[in-house]
Amino acid sequence: MTRLTRTSHWQALAEHRKSLAPRHLNDLFAADPRRFERLSLRGCELLFDFSKQRIVPETVQLLARLADARELKSHMARMAAGEAINATENRAALHIALRADRPYRVGGEDVLPQVRETRAQMRRLADAIGSGARCGSGGKPVSAIVNLGIGGSDLGPRMAAQALAEFTAPRLKIRFVANIDPAELDGALRDLDPAGTLFIVSSKTFTTQETLANAKAAMRWLARHLGTGDDPGRHFVAVSNNLAGAAALGIGADDCLAMADWVGGRFSMWSAIGLPLACAIGMDAFEDMLAGARAMDEHFLAAPFAENLPVMMALIGIWNTNFLGAGSLAVIPYAHNLGLLPAYLQQLEMESNGKCVRLDGSPVDCDTAPVIWGMAGTVGQHAFHQLFYQGTRLTPIDFIVPAGRESPEARALVANALAQSAALMRGKSVEEARDQLRAGGRSEAEAARLAPHHACPGNQPSSTLLLPRLTPRTLGSLIALYEHKAAVQGWIWGINSFDQWGVEHGKQMAREILPSMLAGADGTAHRPDAYPAWDGSTHGLLAALRAWRAATGE
Ligand code: F6P
Repeated sequence: MTRLTRTSHWQALAEHRKSLAPRHLNDLFAADPRRFERLSLRGCELLFDFSKQRIVPETVQLLARLADARELKSHMARMAAGEAINATENRAALHIALRADRPYRVGGEDVLPQVRETRAQMRRLADAIGSGARCGSGGKPVSAIVNLGIGGSDLGPRMAAQALAEFTAPRLKIRFVANIDPAELDGALRDLDPAGTLFIVSSKTFTTQETLANAKAAMRWLARHLGTGDDPGRHFVAVSNNLAGAAALGIGADDCLAMADWVGGRFSMWSAIGLPLACAIGMDAFEDMLAGARAMDEHFLAAPFAENLPVMMALIGIWNTNFLGAGSLAVIPYAHNLGLLPAYLQQLEMESNGKCVRLDGSPVDCDTAPVIWGMAGTVGQHAFHQLFYQGTRLTPIDFIVPAGRESPEARALVANALAQSAALMRGKSVEEARDQLRAGGRSEAEAARLAPHHACPGNQPSSTLLLPRLTPRTLGSLIALYEHKAAVQGWIWGINSFDQWGVEHGKQMAREILPSMLAGADGTAHRPDAYPAWDGSTHGLLAALRAWRAATGE
């Protein structure tokens, strides 16, 4: 494989960066009155303003040429054709088929009938729960749903259920439990009526330690509260690609919703993994969300690169990461209900593109995924924005701003979002700071002493994604936008965005360590010689844990 950084297109971008580097964003705006029109795009009800990125129209052209040279069109076509683009797992990555209204094929077979069948099953269940027809074993209608799942089997529906709280049925309590720490399950169950509680065990593989442990704990909770004679089976539904695994837990085929192997966990909220969300907002609203995602898919597959929202978003990310040296991307939604979006995007981008080898197994020669982080504005303004203003790091930001309904608070929220992106770009010179301090009554000497502390260099790059309102449809478009962005970046970097072997390595180690923790229950000391492959730190920590447990008798 050609080294990416040695290609002429990469080199052209590196040269271009040198000429652009000395220019402040303020100068770029001053030099081009039409900069906003030139560097913003509209599509699928979204307005993507990237005019506050450290680029000029020529940068866009050079980046689009890089995308061409990396055969982006052909990668997109192979994905849509259901080819096994996830080469290390020999699978397609066809999440777009989950929201499609036209045939998509995997291995020559149209998957649309299967997708529709599962969606119909979701509708039956969501409708039955919504109408009160679905009852627990004692005949009580379901009044609470607890999703047991982790990673992609949790974050998507959890994030979306919060984002769409305004659309949820008030009658139903919806809870999400991911952590193996019993504190999360205990907290979720505390005020629930066992007789009206339905658990959804969401796990593509049905081998995930956390989810299986929580499912067993939930069964114990039901048995404890409902007494013998009640059938916990009425209280459990499974979503999985491993129906035998669900059966082993006692969940029968009638209560299982299938998930295809060509859906990756972090791309699965559109599948039956979205069941808790569909129950919360109703199946019609869930289908609106699918329609929003579908609109983004169609745009992505058809629009020229320079007009293509996911492609442009991905290319700007590559520019910031690889040419400006940004190590992270802050995602700041100015909508309290989108508070879980940064966590969702962490999995989407970091699990997809946190990779250091290319598809052919050779090492990458440039940085890949940045660290994704953030929290809802305006809260973050009072926590970490200081670093954006006066810190030493370049931190690009995605501001996500639903226009929202008309109210003084909604107006203040949006005003804050616009103010942050403008102030971070504009900055404040030492002279301006000195003038302001003098105007505020400080003496000349005092103003001169304080001015450097008040000055902000500005020039912080950000994009703003404006949406008319946070609805199932706009949320669908927004999430599909980031999904395609991650895939495009992976294709340009030459990595596989659809596997996650690193995570498996950590899981393997946890499986190895657990028996030694259990062995300590008899009060014996840890024996490093029994585990010669482990490091001194792990031995030291295990020994300390065992000693503490022995001392406290726990
Ligand atoms: O964390 C790794 C991972 O494999 C994710 O990719 C996946 O979403 C999550 O675990 C849960 O997996 P499963 O749905 O199989 O329980």
